Amino acid sequence: MLPYSEACERNKAPILDVLRAAFEDRRRVLEIGAGTGQHAVHFARNLPWLRWQPTDRAEYLHGLASRVAVEGPPNLESPIEFDVLHDPWPAIAADAAFSANTLHIMSWPAVEALFAGMPRVLDAGAVLAIYGPFRYRGQFTTPSNDLFDRELRERDPASGVRDFEAVDELATRGWVDADGSVTALGRLVREEIEADTDALAAGPYLALGEAGTAELVALLRPLAERVVSSGMVAFPNPVGLVWPPTGVATVQ
Ligand SMILES: C[S@@+](CC[C@H](N)C(=O)[O-])C[C@H]1O[C@@H](n2cnc3c(N)ncnc32)[C@H](O)[C@@H]1O
Repeated sequence: MLPYSEACERNKAPILDVLRAAFEDRRRVLEIGAGTGQHAVHFARNLPWLRWQPTDRAEYLHGLASRVAVEGPPNLESPIEFDVLHDPWPAIAADAAFSANTLHIMSWPAVEALFAGMPRVLDAGAVLAIYGPFRYRGQFTTPSNDLFDRELRERDPASGVRDFEAVDELATRGWVDADGSVTALGRLVREEIEADTDALAAGPYLALGEAGTAELVALLRPLAERVVSSGMVAFPNPVGLVWPPTGVATVQ
């Protein structure tokens, strides 16, 4: 049996109305915390110009993958396991991201990690759409959200309905512009992350030497060609990967 959320059935139509305009000129969407996959199926089916990439943590992946396999239209990709608190982040370049009903379930450090990681997966000028309950200026919008917040915190003290202003500040802390473009600071953060990943990737070269690395590259080339031809890696992408490779990296 496929996982099912009654709330998704209720909210998918009004969310679609917003996404139809917000994602009108977008091509590739990364969804975080896709849950049952009902949203992913509905939005991919109704926004057929998009390629929709659902992701979620390991415990949700089986149900999510089952729904995608049974109901997914061709523009809905197979789900990827992804927790915003753990590397690796999905190796995709999206020009939009979507997440529904996740920020009040995640801990606050996870919410921060989600926003901090966005420049790693989003193109300049990307659009991020978040759906869920918020408090505005410290006030709940309905008494039922107040009750929901207390129930959430009782179950997991790290969870809870978030303050819209605090989330908005994360989104605008200087890494992206109001229109979602990556700022100079955002690019700097991305470069720092790239330097770290380069340092980590240097291990095989240091262990194998030049000839051994060349042999490893030759052995992996057919696999890389299959990955690229499957469309899993988009070009251009935020990590600056080009295909076919134009040069040989050196390690100092
Ligand atoms: C209430 S469900 C919402 C699922 C779906 N988006 C919906 O609207 O029905 C909360 C989702 O947040 C996801 N989530 C919680 N913490 C997460 C994390 N650290 N990284 C990624 N997803 C997380 C859960 O795995 C789950 O899919």
